[in-house]
Amino acid sequence: MNAVKTLGQFIIEKQADFPYAKGELSRLLRDLGIAAKIVNREVNKAGLAGIIGDAGSTNVQGESQKKLDIYANEQFLAALQCGGECCILVSEENDDYIYIDSELSKNAKYIVAIDPLDGSSNIDVNVSVGTIFSIYRRKSTDGKATIADVLQRGIDQVAAGYIIYGSSTMLVYTTGKGVNGFTLDPSIGEFCLSHPNMEMPVDGNIYSINEGYYNHFPNGIKKYIKYCQVEDEKSHRPYISRYTGSMVADLHRSLIKGGIFIYPVTARAPNGKLRLVYECNPMAFIVEQAGGKASNGYQRIMELNVDDMHQRSAIVIGSMNMVAKAEELLQKY
Ligand code: AHG
Ligand code: MN
Ligand code: MN
Repeated sequence: MNAVKTLGQFIIEKQADFPYAKGELSRLLRDLGIAAKIVNREVNKAGLAGIIGDAGSTNVQGESQKKLDIYANEQFLAALQCGGECCILVSEENDDYIYIDSELSKNAKYIVAIDPLDGSSNIDVNVSVGTIFSIYRRKSTDGKATIADVLQRGIDQVAAGYIIYGSSTMLVYTTGKGVNGFTLDPSIGEFCLSHPNMEMPVDGNIYSINEGYYNHFPNGIKKYIKYCQVEDEKSHRPYISRYTGSMVADLHRSLIKGGIFIYPVTARAPNGKLRLVYECNPMAFIVEQAGGKASNGYQRIMELNVDDMHQRSAIVIGSMNMVAKAEELLQKY
């Protein structure tokens, strides 16, 4: 008989990797896993429950919010409020950061940044969506946590992960000691270890970029796209193009099969579109931990300074050799 290992069991086992850990990070990860299961339940029945479509509001970045964006945001906030391990939540859906002010969380050590629902334009059409999270330890030691605790660089992350609500639902996370993936078994309601020690192929033949914006891309990116399309048997070109509009889904595929995901600067998004704190940094941490690479074309994503919690960045992320080639062309042209 095959014994299953649940996310809860795995987290407790791994606590021993951190000799001074008192279990707070473990509890925080468990809380995020619980919220993910609740969001998964709603995503699965979105068409039945009347929760597809726009909420009629916009977030701080002027993007229209879907009902499920707001629902997912509320669920993760509620889980962190009940859990007591997080003192500040930063979310794509909230203009400002949220203090978690409860008796339970008055000594909380962790800051969580989250994209509660990534790829939300895909909800209405049944294409995979996701959640991305990033965890920091607060630096200040007394009083209320401050903005300085929030604006930490990606290299300061203590953990990061994503949930993909796809043909099956998976939670993938790292605490800086490799990457592990868990598949939700709906019959027992548990995330079970299905992808231990995930390692990203160093090369791949799938590229992911919104080519609709081709005319507005920097020259180096145009050159890279042409490079992907050239016939060359030895390097398995032309590459295959896949782009879903959910970064989580595109990167999950790249993590397993190898590939590159690019969201460069464009005329419409002069600083890039994706948000450094709750999209780029957590994905960069996971990809690096799996042996891949993540940069803005010039600098490592996780070393970029963070001045604003909603700041954007260009991103080139994925298999080591593919990212290195794209960087080479970006820097050359
Ligand atoms: P979100 O749904 O959280 O706003 O993120 C969407 C992001 C990312 O997941 C995706 O790759 C990208 O935006 C798609 O943008 P374009 O439609 O401009 O390609
Ligand atoms: Mn997103
Ligand atoms: Mn989102």
